[in-house]
Amino acid sequence: MTASTDARMEPVKIGSLTCTPLHPTFAAEVTGIDFSKPVSDEQIKDVIAAQERFGVTVYRNTALDDKRHVEFSRQLGELEHVPKFSGPKTVLRFAYTELFDAGNTDINGNIVQKGTRRWWYNKGNALWHTDSSFNQHRSKFSALLAHAVPKEGGNTNFADVRHAFRDMPEEKKAELRPLVLEHNLWHSRRVAAPDEYQAPTEYELAAKPPARHKLVQTAPDGGETLFIAAHAEYVVGWSKEDSQKLIWDLINYCTQPKYTLSLQWHQPGDLVIWDNRQTMHTATPFSDQMEVRDMRRTTVFDDGPFAWGVPEKPIDQIHEKPIDVPAVAVPA
Ligand SMILES: [Fe+2]
Repeated sequence: MTASTDARMEPVKIGSLTCTPLHPTFAAEVTGIDFSKPVSDEQIKDVIAAQERFGVTVYRNTALDDKRHVEFSRQLGELEHVPKFSGPKTVLRFAYTELFDAGNTDINGNIVQKGTRRWWYNKGNALWHTDSSFNQHRSKFSALLAHAVPKEGGNTNFADVRHAFRDMPEEKKAELRPLVLEHNLWHSRRVAAPDEYQAPTEYELAAKPPARHKLVQTAPDGGETLFIAAHAEYVVGWSKEDSQKLIWDLINYCTQPKYTLSLQWHQPGDLVIWDNRQTMHTATPFSDQMEVRDMRRTTVFDDGPFAWGVPEKPIDQIHEKPIDVPAVAVPA
């Protein structure tokens, strides 16, 4: 079947928006918003409807700056704040603590050098994952805005986990439904950079303890999906070896070519929003020691019935907020 004969690839109107599918089962490029002025509450409803239907939405050449990126994101829900992994030495690059630095430059705009902790940290982003599954209060949307894109490479690849799960045999789904996964940011860092992250620092461990979430969850459309990522370390009650085998079998299953899409960033101002509850994504290589890729992300907390997962301890005993250390204005 070619794209031209596939009705699923035809543009769809959602309120004031036109959504042009990028894949037969998920992801669309969206037009119809004027980002030069505040987005109306009415259009925000359309944005969320498009988001929940397509899982990944792409808005080209928005010309958003940090302020308007954050303001628009706040209209989608409560935002995460950046963790302070370096404790008292933590220096934030942006004026907004809701902006995660997902690029390859330091606070002075210089390229992060190969072999530094930050460089190794970014290696973990090249594993298939969903953002913030390692938080007990998980997040629903990520909104990544390009400020500088490399000439070649640096695509973000996405997987339609929702569709992949629905294609599974019923017996397999039944096996998976009772399972709870423990997600740990430091696990995915160790998988990607075993030496560097053998022993995370006290600040890192305190900022991001493990979190537990059901594997099979309900997607926004009411059907089932998987909540899975390279951050998943254990199936609760299973050995590490058995857990990792199942987790990677599932990640590999969900990221078969037929369920994935490689998204190219065209220019600064491109904004991509994805749904962490029903997709996975991964960073792809580019000349990271030669070219700047400046990407800034807001992350919207889930406010639905599965937002807090299956905590091991009562919620009020979970220490998940960044520990109280002030950011300093200059590098220590
Ligand atoms: Fe990510």
